[in-house]
Amino acid sequence: MTTTANPASAAHTTGVAIELDGVEKRYRGQDKPAVKELSIAIDAGETVAIVGPSGCGKTTTLKMINRLIEPSSGRVLIDGNDAKGVDGDDLRQGIGYVVQAGGLFPHWTVEKNIAAVPNLLGWDKARTEDRVTELLELVGLDSNEFRGRFPKEMSGGQQQRVGVARALAADPPVLLMDEPFGAVDPITRVRLQDQLLSIQEELRKTIVIVTHDVDEATKLADRVLILSEGGHIEQFGTPEEILTSPANEFVEEFVGSGATLRHLTLSGVSDIPLTPVVLARPGDPSDEAVARAREIGHNWIVVADAEDRPRAWPSVNEVASKPTVSKYVDRRLPVVEHTATLADALDVMLAASQGGVLILRRGKVTGSVTIEQVTGRIRERQALANPEQAADTYRAAP
Ligand SMILES: Nc1ncnc2c1ncn2[C@@H]1O[C@H](COP(=O)(O)OP(=O)(O)O)[C@@H](O)[C@H]1O
Ligand SMILES: [Mg+2]
Repeated sequence: MTTTANPASAAHTTGVAIELDGVEKRYRGQDKPAVKELSIAIDAGETVAIVGPSGCGKTTTLKMINRLIEPSSGRVLIDGNDAKGVDGDDLRQGIGYVVQAGGLFPHWTVEKNIAAVPNLLGWDKARTEDRVTELLELVGLDSNEFRGRFPKEMSGGQQQRVGVARALAADPPVLLMDEPFGAVDPITRVRLQDQLLSIQEELRKTIVIVTHDVDEATKLADRVLILSEGGHIEQFGTPEEILTSPANEFVEEFVGSGATLRHLTLSGVSDIPLTPVVLARPGDPSDEAVARAREIGHNWIVVADAEDRPRAWPSVNEVASKPTVSKYVDRRLPVVEHTATLADALDVMLAASQGGVLILRRGKVTGSVTIEQVTGRIRERQALANPEQAADTYRAAP
């Protein structure tokens, strides 16, 4: 396989199709196959999430795509070519692989970890260095600060980002991820998911991601594959289909009782009209900001820096109590990127005990979503799912 990786053309790279054709894996000493005759077709540039109970064959399926596990029978086609006809190492250079906690080599710096595949491919030093810089920026890490660090000198979320950068190093058309965000806290997890969405918006790889989290699956994937024991397909459909028309009881149970709230994962914060915010800069005269807010009946003011990155979200009264707008930076500000779902927005609000969340686009504040907007959307969804009950509720209302 020749590599055509070229940082300049990365933005135009598109993934390739993957087809599993009757793929089966029997481990030695097991009487039942771990995966039995699994057939699915994944489109180029599509994100597919695989979910299912522990031991149902998710990891086995994923590893048969890059031949870390050889199928006992059946075929894996990548871009129409039988993966069997390609040398395993060559195959894996064209398929990025991300595991939980990043799977970084602990004794290598970030730079060396990311450069692993480029070094194998014999890239020269300058090209590799540039690529490392570019990838660290892509995953939102300052390249000067992080390239010399060792994995243990970073948080779980940062290690995970480096893991993604490493998988993307040689610009592979396919990215396989096995429970990549399983080991990080919920807030970091949402950030990493949003980042993956924006990377995917830009690169359009074919991504297959294994997760045990249905919310993560419906948020990230174009289609969700629900497996039961033996890699048996229970349903393969869009998030909307999985949530609104589960194919059978297994899916219904797996998707679970939180289905109403889970519908919030189908709505992005950008699907609803954002509530505008009143902006002020630290050091501005307070009266002027307060007057602007009061004029349009707002009780809150967003204090943001010159690049519109939010620093604090004080009440109008709080701002009015001082002559100039405070320079205070609130580390626990409730913020999400514009790719977040309403479920994410709700989580962040609840975690911060706030009635709203600020919506960012590339770090700049663009508006807010209030808890009333979220609950309004839940009621609409309930009405759609169950019109009669909604009508009753409506009639019962005074
Ligand atoms: N190397 C192995 N040898 C024998 N059995 C294995 C091996 N790896 C996985 N299995 C078995 O295959 C089944 C599927 O495993 P796996 O693909 O890891 O499931 P999942 O990722 O969905 O939890 C399980 O029953 C597991 O015990
Ligand atoms: Mg697994």
